[in-house]
Amino acid sequence: MGLTRTFVALGLPDPIPDALEAIAERVPGGRSVDGDNLHVTLAFLGDVDSSGLVDVHDALNAIQAAEFSLLVEGLGLFGRNRPRSLWAGVRNTPELTFLQSKVARAAHNAGVDLTRRRFVPHITLARFSGGPETPELQRFIAGNAGLSLGAVSVQSFGLYASHLTSGGAFYEELSRYPLAAM
Ligand code: 2AM
Repeated sequence: MGLTRTFVALGLPDPIPDALEAIAERVPGGRSVDGDNLHVTLAFLGDVDSSGLVDVHDALNAIQAAEFSLLVEGLGLFGRNRPRSLWAGVRNTPELTFLQSKVARAAHNAGVDLTRRRFVPHITLARFSGGPETPELQRFIAGNAGLSLGAVSVQSFGLYASHLTSGGAFYEELSRYPLAAM
């Protein structure tokens, strides 16, 4: 049976993708993420089989949550001494926490084991292959510390397949779930 590498994420409302892509393209020494691929991961499900996907879809479809404002603020790194990725921060509002916990519970109820990690909402802009943080990267982060975008209303979240190719990962939206209008 085929397995699909899946995750649940917020797509980004305009004009956030274009604004962030312009920043991602200028990151020194990293592989930048295309504007189309930028997202906020709510839960990484890993490899799921086709019947699991149906269960996940049904559980996500049953979530009731309201639209909310997304606020993008500042830049940060994952990987202290050897940065793995550079991200734009997303403010963790009560609405976002609520939706993320509903998504995590839905995945769990559908039989998917999630890695137990604290939710740090972020949008990965670039990935690095190793090596310590360079002075250029430090300057870039300091120079963009005042990054602030939003507040833009998020109206849906989605279930995505991640396809790993020699040209990098691309993400396919499998289903989209609307959030309730306020
Ligand atoms: P990232 O943006 O911080 O790199 C699709 O691969 C999405 O799932 C990416 O946004 C990635 O997060 C996240 N992801 C990939 N592998 C993961 C893992 N093992 N655990 C948690 N999240 C993961």
